[in-house]
Amino acid sequence: MTTRPFTVALDGPAASGKGTIGRAVAAHFGFAYLDTGLLYRAVGARMREGMDPVRAAETLTAQVLDDPALRTAEAGQAASKVAAMPSVRTALRDFQRAFARRAGGAVLDGRDIGTVICPQAEAKIFVTASAEARATRRHKDLVEQGEDLSYRDVLADIEARDERDTSRSDSPLREAEGALRLDTTEMSIEDAVAAATRTVEARLHQT
Ligand code: DC
Repeated sequence: MTTRPFTVALDGPAASGKGTIGRAVAAHFGFAYLDTGLLYRAVGARMREGMDPVRAAETLTAQVLDDPALRTAEAGQAASKVAAMPSVRTALRDFQRAFARRAGGAVLDGRDIGTVICPQAEAKIFVTASAEARATRRHKDLVEQGEDLSYRDVLADIEARDERDTSRSDSPLREAEGALRLDTTEMSIEDAVAAATRTVEARLHQT
């Protein structure tokens, strides 16, 4: 626990495990947690309903982020499209920066937190895993939520999103300089959480 602002920037590709790690680290230190992918998912969902995406981003409130429909594969695809629009990214930037600098510490997980949103974050972590390992996990989660999708479809979706996330010109997915790299292809989630927690603990004492 801390009373000052302290930002943990957690980036990585879809289904790498960063959400699980982020929530566990936030709970351990008593920090607030924001899954920034949900911001893009909420804007994507509004766009599908016919709303202008920039207006949707400008008027977004934290309450809409609880909607379980935002976690579907369709919402993920719409998110990845609006995430490539620079004006949408700009409209969401201040919301994320204000969240990051709140008193008491914050963990933000996303694609560009350590590189663009919070380059001065006190702790930076980059979580990755092979596309196959990520597709296996995402497929299991979606089936548990009642979605009827094959592993092959999920893998194709992950590969398409990786391509869009890493090749877009505005804020592409990149490992931030100085970030702890966690490859969870073989590593258990418990070991990944422990490594992330150790890094944050060390940074809390150093800053
Ligand atoms: O992590 P996720 O699957 O919920 O993210 C949904 C989409 O939003 C994904 O294709 C990438 C994009 N995104 C982004 O561009 N920047 C972020 N900080 C978070 C997500």
